[in-house]
Amino acid sequence: MDGEKIAIIGVPALAVLFLVIGFVANPPAEPVADPAPPQAFDKELAAAYVQAGCWQCHAVSTLQAELTEAFGAQAAGVRPMGPDLAGVGARFNADWHTAHFWKPEDVYAGSQMPAQRHLFEPGQTKLNEQGRRVVEFLLTLKSRSDINKPWPTVRAVAPAGDAGRGRVLFQRECAGCHGHDAKGDGPAAKFISTPRKPPALAKGDFIYLPAGERPLDSIYTVISNGVPGSAMPSFAARLSEQQRADLAAWVAKVGGK
Ligand code: HEC
Ligand code: HEC
Repeated sequence: MDGEKIAIIGVPALAVLFLVIGFVANPPAEPVADPAPPQAFDKELAAAYVQAGCWQCHAVSTLQAELTEAFGAQAAGVRPMGPDLAGVGARFNADWHTAHFWKPEDVYAGSQMPAQRHLFEPGQTKLNEQGRRVVEFLLTLKSRSDINKPWPTVRAVAPAGDAGRGRVLFQRECAGCHGHDAKGDGPAAKFISTPRKPPALAKGDFIYLPAGERPLDSIYTVISNGVPGSAMPSFAARLSEQQRADLAAWVAKVGGK
């Protein structure tokens, strides 16, 4: 065989080899069993979302086809700079969304999202009809998504934490709802009442301290998991274990637990 022939046979052979190696290194993902029903699509609610302009920054990966068919390709998200909203309905409740639209920064430290005041009655902190529909739409986004997983429920043991660092973090991550002194009076608290207002942690307002569990562990667990169905989000993805442990240490201290 001369050099030219080797090259001709060699290139496809190499290509096949790389394909095989690539396949072994990155086998296709196993399909994950998902008990959630397929994503429902309510065109009227979706229309409120589209008219509100959320698609300028967001996509909903589970409704890509439906949004495109009903409202055109733009509606599915042009060049999303914000997170994929698939699954958010299983992560935040209606009060959280309302507070978020009023002033994202109060519920989401460091937020880049602009306030959505056009979704409120003029001069009031009450959502208008369109705002209520957008929230209702978001709450329908509960289907299969790896992006926004529902509130976790696993119980955890708090690693050792530093209350001093926790106090500083609390001002950034939690004060918007719970208030700077943890008295339940943050600026977002006026939007939140269902099923409960942000508790006054510094006054010992704790209801999630199961008997037989160290209060510090219970507090750490709530910070990590959030409270399902409430405005208390899960901080497991947003904050490190150490940060959550520091927060738990400060909350336990200030709450006398
Ligand atoms: C100018 C861009 C922009 C617009 C317009 C916008 N958002 Fe956002 N949004 C963001 C960004 C960026 C984030 C990510 C967190 C942050 O920086 O606040 C976000 C976060 C969110 C989140 C939290 C998602 C998560 O996984 O944590 C929700 C829910 C949300 N936006 C809903 C909406 C809705 C509904 C609208 C329309 C009424 C809207 N946004 C309009 C940029 C935008
Ligand atoms: C968007 C508002 C909001 C933010 C931000 C928030 N919380 Fe909460 N938090 C709540 C609400 C509302 C509840 C009550 C949930 C319920 O019982 O329905 C709660 C409950 C709690 C509880 C449980 C108290 C009990 O009854 O045992 C703890 C602990 C807590 N939050 C700590 C924190 C910490 C620490 C942070 C910051 C990392 C934080 N929260 C951020 C709204 C918020």
